[in-house]
Parts: sequence; C-alpha cells; structure tokens
Amino acid sequence: MPVPPMVQARVEELRALIRNYDYHYYVLDQPLVSDAEYDRLFRELKDLENQYPELVTPDSPTQRLGGVPATTFRPVPHAVPMLSLDNCFTSEELVEWDARVRRLLSVSSVEYVCEPKLDGLSVELVYEQGFLTLGSTRGDGSTGEDVTANLRTIKQVPLRLFPVNGVVPALLEVRGEVYMERAAFQGLNRERERAGQPLFANPRNAAAGSLRQLDPRITAGRPLKFFAYHVGRVEGLELSTQVQLLTTLSQLGLPVNPVWRLCRTLAEVQEFYGELLSRRNEFPYDTDGMVVKVNEFAWRAVLGEVARAPRWAIAYKFPAQEATTRVLDIVVQVGRTGVLTPVAVLEPVEVSGVTVSRATLHNEDEVRRKDVRIGDWVLVRRAGEVIPEVVKPLLERRSGAEREFRMPQRCPECGGPVVRPEGEVAHRCENLSCPARIRQSIRHFASRRAADIQGLGDKLIDQLVENGLLRKVSDIYRLKKADLLVLERMGDKSAQNLLDQIEKSKGMSLERLIFALGIQHVGETAAQLLAERFSSLEALAQASPMDLQGIPGVGPKMASTIADFFANPENRRLMEELRALGVVPSGTRPRGGPLAGKTLVFTGTLRSLTREEARRLVEAQGGRVASAVSRKVDLLVVGSDPGSKVEEARRLGIPTLDEAEFRRLLGY
Ligand code: IVH
Repeated sequence: MPVPPMVQARVEELRALIRNYDYHYYVLDQPLVSDAEYDRLFRELKDLENQYPELVTPDSPTQRLGGVPATTFRPVPHAVPMLSLDNCFTSEELVEWDARVRRLLSVSSVEYVCEPKLDGLSVELVYEQGFLTLGSTRGDGSTGEDVTANLRTIKQVPLRLFPVNGVVPALLEVRGEVYMERAAFQGLNRERERAGQPLFANPRNAAAGSLRQLDPRITAGRPLKFFAYHVGRVEGLELSTQVQLLTTLSQLGLPVNPVWRLCRTLAEVQEFYGELLSRRNEFPYDTDGMVVKVNEFAWRAVLGEVARAPRWAIAYKFPAQEATTRVLDIVVQVGRTGVLTPVAVLEPVEVSGVTVSRATLHNEDEVRRKDVRIGDWVLVRRAGEVIPEVVKPLLERRSGAEREFRMPQRCPECGGPVVRPEGEVAHRCENLSCPARIRQSIRHFASRRAADIQGLGDKLIDQLVENGLLRKVSDIYRLKKADLLVLERMGDKSAQNLLDQIEKSKGMSLERLIFALGIQHVGETAAQLLAERFSSLEALAQASPMDLQGIPGVGPKMASTIADFFANPENRRLMEELRALGVVPSGTRPRGGPLAGKTLVFTGTLRSLTREEARRLVEAQGGRVASAVSRKVDLLVVGSDPGSKVEEARRLGIPTLDEAEFRRLLGY
C-alpha cells in the first residue's frame, strides 16, 4: 500500500514533537507536556509505523532499542585518539602546571574552563549529517569497541541533532562520559541484592558493566546518563574555544553539564575548586575532581600532548572521602537466600556529610583478608559515595584487647546449622523456614517492583512473621481481616485497605511474579526477558537449563539457578498454592510477529548472519530453532550449499525460504 502523503507528514511531525519533548524531559529536565499526552503521541507514531513499516527510519524515537544481541564488540579505531588526563592533588601542583602552560605559551595569563570530573566511562558518538551513526568506548584510546546499540538506549543521547542556525554539522565526533547517578545506582543494587545478584561496588563499575552488555535490552533497563564535554573530528562547524564547544553542543541537543565556569585567573580556578569540593555531595553523580582546560583551541594546539595526555588540561583531584572510627561489634545479617553477611557496627562518624554507622564486610574471607577485629580503629571510606567500606584497621592503634570475628556455627536468627558450600565464599543458613529468610523473601515479594502490595511494609511483615501468620510467601493470600485486627495499630479501615491491595496484586504481570519469587540471579530485567519468552510460570518451570541458556541475557549461572529453583519441591508447591489462591498473572505481553510459536530449521551457509545471530533473531520474535527437519518444523531457511534437509523438507511439504526472504520476514 503506498504511503499517503498526509501520513508521511504526520509521522515526521510526530517525530519532531517527540524529539523536542524528549530533549526537554531528558536533557533539560523540564517536561513540556504531561506523560499522558506524550504517551498518546508516541503510541500514534508507533501505530503509524506498524501500519507503514517502510516509514521507519533509524533515527525515529521508537527505534532506540533495536538490533539483536551481539556476540562480541567490534573494534572501532578513533580517528583522533582519546587521551587521558594528568592528575594533580595539591594547589602547589596546580600552580606549577599553570606556570608551565604560561611559559610554553609565553603569555602572562590564560583563560581556563573548569568542569567537574565525572566518574564514569568515556565514549565517542559519531554524528554524520546530524544522525547518530556510531558509538564507541574509549578502549585504549586508539581503538575502542562498538557499543552503538547500547548507547542508543540512553534517552539523553540524541539519535538526531537539532540544527543550529539552520544547519547541522556534516561530521561531529562528540566525546563525553556515560555515568550513573548515585540514587539510581543504589536502586539498581537494591534490586540486585533482592535478586541475589552480585552488587556493583560503585556507580562507575555499574555504568561500565551496564554499557558493556552484549544484549542492548539489558543496557536499556539500566539507568545510564550521558554528559558531553569534548569533541574529536568536526566538519561544518567552527569551534575555537571550550566555552563555544559547550554552548554549541548544548544547542545541538546534547546533554552538557550545566556546572562549569570560565576562569580568568588561577585564583578563580582555586575558588571554583573550593566550591565544587564543598558541593560535591549535592551533585546527583559522583565526581572525583575538577578538570581544568585551556579555553582557547589555538593555544591547545601549541601546547600539544605528552605520553597520551594533553598539556592543556589537568584533573585536579578531590581528597578521598575517608574518616577513622571504631568497630564496636561485628554482627551477622541473614539474607533472603540464607546468606550470612558480617557487618561492622561502627561508632557513628561523619564521612563528607554523611553519618556512617555500619559497613558491610561482605564475607568471612574478606574479614580475614583485611584483618578487621572487634574493637579496632579503622579507616572507613565511602566508596562510590554510598556503601561505606572498611579500608583497613589502624594496626598502630591496637591495644591487644581486640577480638577476632568468627562466623557463628549456628544461624543467629533460627539457631539452625550454618554451612559453607564447596567453592563458595558465603556461609548460609540452610533452614528454609528460618524467620530471617522468610521475612526477607516476603519483603521482596511484596516490594514495589515485585507484587507491589502497598501497606505491607517491613514492620508489618516482621509482626506477621513473629505472630506466625506468615510462614511463607503464599500465606499473604491467606490473611483474613480477623488476623490483622489483632495487630497493634491496625484499624478496620487499614486492614481492609491492605486486603484490597493484596487482592489487587493477584493480577500482577508475569514478569513481576517471576521477579517476586526471588530466584537467585533473576533481577527485573531478566524477569522481563523470561516473561517475554514463556507464556506462563508453568512453561518457565518446565524449561531445561539448555532452553534457558538459549535466551539472550540468560547466562549459564542464571539458567541453572532457575532450573534448580523449579526443581525444588518446596518451590513447586509454592507455585501451586499461589495459583490455587488466585494469583494468576495478567496480560503477559504476547510476542507477536510472524515467527511467534513457529519452529525453523537452517541449512547451508547464510551470507549476512552467523547461525547464532540468526537463532537469536528468530527467538527475539518468539520463534524456535530446531536442528533437524521433522513434521513439527514450520519453515526451512536455505543458505548457500544446502544439505539434504532441502529434500527432506520438500518430502514433508515444509515451505522453504532463501536468505533474503528470511530477512524480509524478520524485518531485518
Ligand atoms: S576532557 C583530553 N572533561 O577523565 C581530555 N574528561 O582521566 C579529554 N573525564 O578519559 C577529556 N570528566 O573519561 C574531560 N569534564 C571532563 C571529564 C573528563 C571526566 C574523564 C574522561 C577521561 C578521563 C581522563
């Protein structure tokens, strides 16, 4: 069907509107329209694109998440090397650096632009004629890795630049930092903790780990942000100072950190450093110093670089956020999966604006390695600003009265035996009905991102577990008003509200239910992938580790914990009970598309795809790939030099497709 010109025009209008709304929302943080209005326009665009797929362009706001999981990252050479920065730590060192800059330039004063040094990872975005065509990591500075598909999922990264004075540059290589805000990092770690996944040590690691994912859908679920601060090659745009660079990038629609200052004297540089240092904890992101850059590009060229670092810029680092305090005790916490975590109870101490009174010691090996003892004076640090960390004991302050920590032989919560499974660092309480485990698993089940049972908070759960009203997750759905009314501070109205919320949660989505079960390693994103792939909890429970590993984003470790979870009779019983009590997930997203529910077989060599990529493409659309032709097979895809499968398919009357037809079918 030819595209009516009206439709084409509307599609373009919608894209321009959405692009502008996205810019105001994600980059400027100043929404222009209500969420409902935005959603309506977005849906209208999506519907039109579904109706006229030939109108879809890669820069459409609907196309952030596309492509298929990669098997490796392609190397990308940087046309202009991505340099690193020299550091300095004291104002004397800064004075020396400035003196050298002025000496080399034979001038008496230089203008500097100062910016916070962001603690993330640097990337390059290539815009050709205003369109984002390539995104890469810094790598070793000369060659990075192609992470275009992942960078496209960051909402702050424009897929298309706005014209400035009616023009877009022919070529623009934008450089900047991908980072994660502290609050988002904490949220991500909380989610991972609940899912029994390893935690990220700090926002920087979380950002790096999230960007280097082979499956862009995982990156899309991570709260990454971006700030632009530098350029590589530029064509069709005049940039001669850093001030101009920052303002122009901003006009082009790129996110630029509003915190920067043009300093005309070194005293001004020092003053701004002092300001940033004192405001450091107010910024939503981590910053470990201030970057001082010569403003004039002409002077940068004169100064040049040494050993992969420019002479025209320096990172003036902030002092570490450390303090000393005493370890009053080392206690043990029991988590949902029964893991025992030693935690240092500290004499409260302020570490750059935040009072720290507890610090995790991770596990027994870690306590031994650091040799932290009860009564020790220790150095604590807010690593990544949030999780306080015990750096080391101050051995010179030991009196001899300190006591070594021993992992208890019995669970501090239930008195059950504690074991350390072979090859694991963690000690566990094996008692499935340990109140600590029950409490934690119910907390997780009821939490906002899981079953979202409002009113069933931590305190109430503790009371209900103590009173024996909750012994396992399914007991939530057995609660009666009379049970609740006996609790302190529980009136008729709040009891009814809670029961209503519990009732409502019975229709939670499949992905929430999968997440709520708290299977080790299964976080929200994985739960979403599993819900897309399996139509019901029962179907997921039937899956073998092999089936599971075939799903992009599911590694061998997760596959085996999922299979173990459903192999456990206790968990099977829980599933049955939940179903019997009316917990039936609603509206699992059906995987539409031409391949949903179909089985395909490949023969011969494909030109444009590896077998693995082809399989992922099919699976991404809800299909399955088998190795042999049988009556159950729906389609045979024939590459070059096919084998006997073609004959076999013909005999069974199974339709065949060549590579081009196959790709068309996938819309790829
Ligand atoms: S300018 C050649 N500006 O610091 C100078 N870098 O240690 C180009 N960084 O690789 C970089 N914030 O990842 C610049 N405002 C900022 C920065 C910044 C963080 C990072 C960047 C770079 C590293 C060097």
